[in-house]
Amino acid sequence: MGKLVICDHPLIQHKLTFIRDKATNTKDFRDLVSEVATLMAYEITRDVPLETIQIETPVCEMESYILSGRMIGLVPILRAGLGMVDGILQLIPSAKVGHIGLYRNEETLQPVEYYINLPTDAQERLLIVIDPMLATGGSANAAIEALKKRDCTHLKLMCLIAAPEGVKAVQDAHPDVDIFVASVDERLNENGYIVPGLGDAGDRLFGTK
Ligand code: PRP
Ligand code: URA
Repeated sequence: MGKLVICDHPLIQHKLTFIRDKATNTKDFRDLVSEVATLMAYEITRDVPLETIQIETPVCEMESYILSGRMIGLVPILRAGLGMVDGILQLIPSAKVGHIGLYRNEETLQPVEYYINLPTDAQERLLIVIDPMLATGGSANAAIEALKKRDCTHLKLMCLIAAPEGVKAVQDAHPDVDIFVASVDERLNENGYIVPGLGDAGDRLFGTK
């Protein structure tokens, strides 16, 4: 089964409180989501491999570390995933960014794919699928399936808030994909919203509705 990592750093948990708060305005919400994404990027890259190169400091020669192995790609799920991209690029500026367009049919809660565009070398990269909300898991699973169908096999999932139902759905369908979240909340309500959650992430990020 894939790992579930809860990023419980105090800065992440502090910022998450204000992200959840309905009194937080659009600008602050967007800034906070981006800041948490930066902090989570630190956690999600914790196990990327290193290699050494020879350099010369002003004092002497030394072997020093650089990142090694697969390059990284980010794949936000449109639209709300976009809110986390810039924050991650702050730490991983060389990452390429693909996009998957999905929306949830509000009656069936089933994801509908309307767009996909990936870096040409996506298959060689470690791809981080990004979406603030993991509710039923339908959107994340559809995104992961779309990537696997295109031979992308090195995948991780990063979300701000998950419902236990969504975590289970992804772990059952994709045991090879590790999941990184800032919180696993209590449950889903009858409309498929995460409780307590933060409401509709896309609407709060973009000031719609
Ligand atoms: C939200 C959210 C996820 C999805 C999660 O997107 O950003 O993509 O719902 O729900 P699920 O786990 O039950 O699939 P939404 O469909 O509202 O689209 P948006 O990003 O355009 O707001
Ligand atoms: N999508 C959201 O934006 N919020 C939820 O709580 C569930 C799905």
